[in-house]
Amino acid sequence: MLIVSPKDWELPESAATPERDYALQSRRAFLKTTGLGLAGVALGGHGLLDSRLLAATRGFPPVGNPDYRDPALKPTPYDLITSYNNFFEFGTDKSAPKLNAQKWKTEPWTVTISGLVRNPLKIEVNDLIARMGGFEQRVYRMRCVAAWSMVIPWDGFPLAKLVALADPQPGAKFVKMTTANVPKTISGQWENALEWPYVEGLRIDEAANELSFIATGIYGQPIPNQNGAPLRLVTPWKCGFKGVKSIVKFEFVANQPRNTWNVMSAREYGFYANVNPNVDHPRWSQGSERVIGAGGALGARQKTLLFNGYEKQVAALYAGMDLKKQY
Ligand code: MTE
Repeated sequence: MLIVSPKDWELPESAATPERDYALQSRRAFLKTTGLGLAGVALGGHGLLDSRLLAATRGFPPVGNPDYRDPALKPTPYDLITSYNNFFEFGTDKSAPKLNAQKWKTEPWTVTISGLVRNPLKIEVNDLIARMGGFEQRVYRMRCVAAWSMVIPWDGFPLAKLVALADPQPGAKFVKMTTANVPKTISGQWENALEWPYVEGLRIDEAANELSFIATGIYGQPIPNQNGAPLRLVTPWKCGFKGVKSIVKFEFVANQPRNTWNVMSAREYGFYANVNPNVDHPRWSQGSERVIGAGGALGARQKTLLFNGYEKQVAALYAGMDLKKQY
């Protein structure tokens, strides 16, 4: 007999229903404002009719699944997910990316897969999404190193599929992911808040873990610029800063890359950045977090969980490692 065991990241139907209604309404409104009804969508995926939009209208499974329940997970409202952001290329205030990234053109968008791979590629993002076999929706916890958290329904595809497409050579041990570097069009990049372009990396076994995800949508709609259009990394057991946005390059390399926040302050931000309530940031505790959107303006506090609650899926990746030293 086949027993389907619940996955921790899946959304309880009860929690999802109001937001599902919201997402459907917004998607319809989105199609209306862009002038693209279902008839237009049927015409194909050229020009204006990008395949992210096509998939948004036909490819999503229903949000939530009664077979999988985690009553503890309540998705953060869409408006908060898309207005409380860190995207320093567009300014350092939480509200700045939404304001400043609106006019940024993320279409067309070319993604490069390079380095120690058998299948190097330069591919348009919509073709890449098609090669990945469409979308699925996952509801993940997100925990920032600055001790706030959200619960986000992401649409996208497992990073493992992209790793398989790239077909790494035996010498490849890490995948380095890089954000677009176009200071002329990205308003905050000349401010030097960080070193540009923003870079992140994963060990290949981390990248191939079932949880590692490339998001191209939120709540069933194309991902907004401020959240990392057209595609960004999501690793829910790691601090939010691992989630590099607006990726232009996946490079498979032999050596551990320096990631942007580690370059900024190595003592404070490591390569692994696993959520760990037992290893404090040098300047503040990691024992608890503010839940954005819950319990008033400041957010209710809750205890932080090891690997952000995803211990079952990822603990084996770090067996034998000293997580205090490799933070
Ligand atoms: N990616 C780029 N390119 N630039 C950034 O400044 N900020 C990171 C990460 N990815 C950042 C980035 C940080 S610190 C966090 S917490 C998350 O994005 C925030 O993602 P969100 O704005 O979608 O919540």
